[in-house]
Amino acid sequence: MCGIVGAIRANHNVVDFLTDGLERLEYRGYDSSGIAVSIDGKIKRVRRVGRVALMAQAAKEKNLFGRIGIGHTRWATHGGVTEPNAHPHISGGTVAVVHNGIIENFESERQRLQKIGYVFESQTDTEVIAHSVNHEYLQTGDLFTAVQAACKRFHGAFAIAVVAQDNTENMVVARMGCPLLVAFGEDETFIASDVSAVIAFTRHIAYLEDGDIALLSTKGIEKLIDKDGQVAERKVKISELSLASLELGPYSHFMQKEIHEQPRAIADTAEVFLEGGFEPENFGSNAREVFDDIHSIKILACGTSYYSALTAKYWLESIAKIPTDVEIASEYRYRDVIADPKQMVITISQSGETLDTMEALKYAKSLGHKHSLSICNVMESALPRESELVLYTRAGAEIGVASTKAFTTQLVVLFGLTVTLGKMRGHVSEEQEQHYTEELRQLPGSIQHVLNLEPQITIWAQKFASKQSALFLGRGIHYPIALEGALKLKEITYIHAEAYPAGELKHGPLALVDENMPVVVIAPNDMLLDKVKANMQEVGARGGELFVFTDLDSNFTEDEGVHVIRTPRHVGVLSPIVHTIPVQLLAYHAALARGTDVDKPRNLAKSVTVE
Ligand code: G6P
Repeated sequence: MCGIVGAIRANHNVVDFLTDGLERLEYRGYDSSGIAVSIDGKIKRVRRVGRVALMAQAAKEKNLFGRIGIGHTRWATHGGVTEPNAHPHISGGTVAVVHNGIIENFESERQRLQKIGYVFESQTDTEVIAHSVNHEYLQTGDLFTAVQAACKRFHGAFAIAVVAQDNTENMVVARMGCPLLVAFGEDETFIASDVSAVIAFTRHIAYLEDGDIALLSTKGIEKLIDKDGQVAERKVKISELSLASLELGPYSHFMQKEIHEQPRAIADTAEVFLEGGFEPENFGSNAREVFDDIHSIKILACGTSYYSALTAKYWLESIAKIPTDVEIASEYRYRDVIADPKQMVITISQSGETLDTMEALKYAKSLGHKHSLSICNVMESALPRESELVLYTRAGAEIGVASTKAFTTQLVVLFGLTVTLGKMRGHVSEEQEQHYTEELRQLPGSIQHVLNLEPQITIWAQKFASKQSALFLGRGIHYPIALEGALKLKEITYIHAEAYPAGELKHGPLALVDENMPVVVIAPNDMLLDKVKANMQEVGARGGELFVFTDLDSNFTEDEGVHVIRTPRHVGVLSPIVHTIPVQLLAYHAALARGTDVDKPRNLAKSVTVE
């Protein structure tokens, strides 16, 4: 969602960094953007609704220049998508602020500030930060203490960056619940909400912690105080994120690139288990004791990550024989829960900063769940930091809003966890372990074979492009893959798509089936295949057109109204991972045919940092 950048540069124009950084944050989802610089005793600002490129062009036309500045991509929450609501927000011409997150008590703060005489120009919660900091600044003349005093008033999760009209040397930043990092160049200091914004300029970064307030100059962090008001230091790390993972290369879209990167991403992620074995230590040095201390699992996640959790439930219960509950994080966090200290809470999140998942984890911990594990793709993000154990997926940066390689690599980690727990609990023999190792080793090759089916899937996608709705069916462990297929299609093509367990067909969705309703079936050769075939007959009898993804040995024949694409070989328990690829490709090519914005679908964001 919203993104923050900022810089103080001794020898360069900050505008170049600000616009480049914001373009790199575009993938997170936004609807307006803006930048502000402090120069010659003035704050100069450019804001635009729409793409960053429009705003960057306007900045160029205005010859915007400065050595210190901040920038923002906004995804509207409080107030519509308008220029006055776009950040940075300026108060009294004195201070400019960019902000991620939400100030929950903004209404009472707004009233307080209005009484003092501040006039609000936007409908945002952020404007209260600008006026509040300004009010303090006018009294103390010190930007750091002004931000410190203002932050004490705010409830909610936020990351902010502030510059002042009369100070071209320093910027003040604060973090409370939303990610923010400081990056160090030569005679220049950058800030960003996401490492991808700065990586083209420097790899030296320090992540701020919740409650931190920092004063920055071109030399780096001049002063930092933590949540207790104590002076603190934050470790500087060298980011390993590759710049190539942020560039399109020969591809037309990031989603296409990321679909095709899956053999590599899966191999990199599987390496943890192929090199290190199915050992608890892969999840943390104390994971053996933790895994010994649990008798069940609760997985909390949102969106695509929730579907990886649903898939894992089948593995965890059938292979590791460990009772597993899966729940949507935004639901869990608001209901009365019977907590169980021996139930490990797993959070799954590509970004590691989805607010609902984070709050659900905090809630679970507050209720007495003793153990937690995070499966995440972004190093040092909020969820792993809040968890006892962590295993990172090695998908590399995922830029397309619709998650692809993050999902399949999550599945690899969850499968590794299953075998690890199964071994520890005596349900996976040495022979089975070897078998699973071999399956995992062959998985990238199997995925590559499915990618080679792209031309056939593209032909199918043309048919979907003109449809209003589509139905996805699956059974057992392939039901979550049907859900993921429907989600991908609706996210990027805006075609209404629903998924059902095929056995539920006659309890409702069959009423929708006619010749205009394409029905996608995920039907590999497993114990439920005959059941799925019977369900398909029910569709065929009502004139529905079937599009079946199956594997080589499942004995399907093409017929009038039945189209079949076969994945090259049956891959046993890892079949859900392999069958994800065709539904991703189907959605991608249908979106291309419809001409939608594949990487930045309307109204959606990559990182959902608000409720
Ligand atoms: C957003 C993204 C999805 C993602 C979901 C959960 O909706 O567009 O791609 O699956 O958030 O995000 P997370 O980062 O927690 O996996």
